[in-house]
Amino acid sequence: MPGLTAYCGLQYIGQPREGETVVVSGAAGAVGTVVGQIAKLRGCRVVGIAGSDEKTAYLQNDLGFDAAINYKTIENMSQALAAACPAGVDIYFDNVGGEISDAVYTLLNKFARIAICGQIALYNATTRPTGPRVEPILLTKSALMKGFIVGDYAAHFGEAAKELANWLKAGKLQYEEHVVEGFDKLPQAFFGLFRGENTGKLLVKVAAYSK
Ligand SMILES: NC(=O)c1ccc[n+]([C@@H]2O[C@H](COP(=O)([O-])OP(=O)(O)OC[C@H]3O[C@@H](n4cnc5c(N)ncnc54)[C@H](OP(=O)(O)O)[C@@H]3O)[C@@H](O)[C@H]2O)c1
Repeated sequence: MPGLTAYCGLQYIGQPREGETVVVSGAAGAVGTVVGQIAKLRGCRVVGIAGSDEKTAYLQNDLGFDAAINYKTIENMSQALAAACPAGVDIYFDNVGGEISDAVYTLLNKFARIAICGQIALYNATTRPTGPRVEPILLTKSALMKGFIVGDYAAHFGEAAKELANWLKAGKLQYEEHVVEGFDKLPQAFFGLFRGENTGKLLVKVAAYSK
């Protein structure tokens, strides 16, 4: 499911073209890691945003991202992003929302595409989140912003799975699984998503598998 989410959101909303700059938030997670690798396979410059130095090192050293920013330690996100995206941002794949997105929006290029996949920074908000209004930027940049649920693209799952599987077999696509053992650990594991405890897909193993 995360692979299909990454593929469909990037391919059908992002429409990546060689040489474009792609920014992905939640970059070290299950969806973000795949988004960045597909964007590299499409010939894009890829910048990831994640919450630890281990994660930013993993993105750059293991997955081939061109740059990665630790949003928890960076003093000025806008400056860091501008340095990492000297030609601006053509595609923003958003997994988190909030202030990270506010910073990305100021760098959008003309005809930029924004895929709204997740908003984890806002899931637990107790009041209606407000922020800089994005509409004037979308207007002046002729940009497209589109939310999606992976099932919207069910008609494309066959072709997506085929291309993802081919990349996997060819060693062009890597994935991480963060496994927590035990059914009783489910709540802890779930809260860990909000603390950034996982790299790649968080799974809870509830029992040994037997045929
Ligand atoms: N639209 C769809 O159909 C669809 C499908 C699947 C998933 N999603 C959504 O897409 C997003 C990514 O999914 P996933 O499975 O790949 O999750 P994930 O990235 O594996 O896990 C969540 C990650 O988000 C980061 N995070 C947590 N709180 C944050 C905050 N306040 N600000 C910034 N980053 C924060 C954490 O990493 P850090 O260490 O980097 O903070 C955490 O590891 C989620 O929001 C999910 O709900 C949407």
